[in-house]
Amino acid sequence: MIDRYRTLWEPLLEIGRAPGGGYARHGWNAADLACREWFTAQAAERGLTCEQDRNGNLWAWWGEPGAGAVVTGSHLDSVPNGGAYDGPLGVVSSFLAVDLLRERGVQPSRPIAVTAFCEEEGARFGIACLGSRLLTGVLDPAKARALTDPDGVTLATAMTRAGADPDAIGRDTEALARIGVFVELHVEQGRALTHLDAPVGLASAIWPHGRWRLDFTGEGNHAGTTLLADRRDPMIAFARTVLAAREQAARTGALATVGRVAIEPNGTNAIASRVRAWLDARAPDGATLDALVQAISADASAAAGADGTAVEVFPESHSAVVEFGAELRDRLAGVLKDGGFGPNSGTIGQPAVPVLPTGAGHDAGILSGFVPTAMLFVRNPTGVSHAPNEHAPDADCATGVEALAAVLEELACR
Ligand code: GLV
Ligand code: MN
Ligand code: MN
Repeated sequence: MIDRYRTLWEPLLEIGRAPGGGYARHGWNAADLACREWFTAQAAERGLTCEQDRNGNLWAWWGEPGAGAVVTGSHLDSVPNGGAYDGPLGVVSSFLAVDLLRERGVQPSRPIAVTAFCEEEGARFGIACLGSRLLTGVLDPAKARALTDPDGVTLATAMTRAGADPDAIGRDTEALARIGVFVELHVEQGRALTHLDAPVGLASAIWPHGRWRLDFTGEGNHAGTTLLADRRDPMIAFARTVLAAREQAARTGALATVGRVAIEPNGTNAIASRVRAWLDARAPDGATLDALVQAISADASAAAGADGTAVEVFPESHSAVVEFGAELRDRLAGVLKDGGFGPNSGTIGQPAVPVLPTGAGHDAGILSGFVPTAMLFVRNPTGVSHAPNEHAPDADCATGVEALAAVLEELACR
């Protein structure tokens, strides 16, 4: 299986390299279109019926597309300078698991579909899980069409340029009705499986999380002639807010990150007139998340108020807490335990696979509000993710494929 995994994995590694050594695969850009071609070619090679739905999500069907399908997959887009595994590992593993089942002569009694959801990271248009949000109707299509990328290109324009119809986006009741169950395999984005000496695990929950844009405004002026007392420099309130976010997160047992900033005019010898920053905040429960964002917003306003600048906070996207259904999870845990996919050491007999919560968002989290959904994680020894050195060992990826195949067989045949 390791060789077969490498054979499918390696050509994908060439697509959409970023100058920083990672990947720049973002919704509807050239690299994303090349990933879509790769997906279509994989489907064609296997004789699977391939389609792109109204929201830009890809589907490859083993069996007649129809109701009650067992759907598996992930996404092919990346964060800016992202790693190779977050997303693509799930799609590659899904094709390989289908291959395994077909070779073994498994005859599913339900259709099986491999999917790749569009713009899961929201790196280009700002809203994470764009394809699954549109599919399920949790995002207003008119709002989505008007989203802009950092160059001011709207989603509508990007889709049109790529030959897709932006007027067709929105809740897709037909596509949704076909999903009987969804399973997403994903690289782990932490080290829990490593600590437990386990190659694979199952997800229990996803922390509630969201994105907020903070616009700090002041007055552009000359860096060499404007007295400190006369300045209205929005960088100061911005800097205080970054520190406040860190402190408030530490105080509440949550996470807060400012990883993106756009400064105007962005000149070395000019005081900034505007600083636009994006806050990513996550917490174990919704109340803590709300309190965290309120506290950071209050700190930002206080910092701006103190030096004559101003700040406005705009929510961009929000994902409520996700608890994956216990019934499906327990069923899959049984299959994986019996299949010998549990931890490698420390237990006698067939140990159970670990069940873990995560702070990362996934299309599975969006779909879980509509259809029975589960997630499988593959060990990531360093825990690094959303960065070029994100990695999962080949042997664990191969185990992930076998585990996914066992899960699909259970769901599609019994
Ligand atoms: C997606 O990976 C996210 O957690 O933001
Ligand atoms: Mn990600
Ligand atoms: Mn992902």
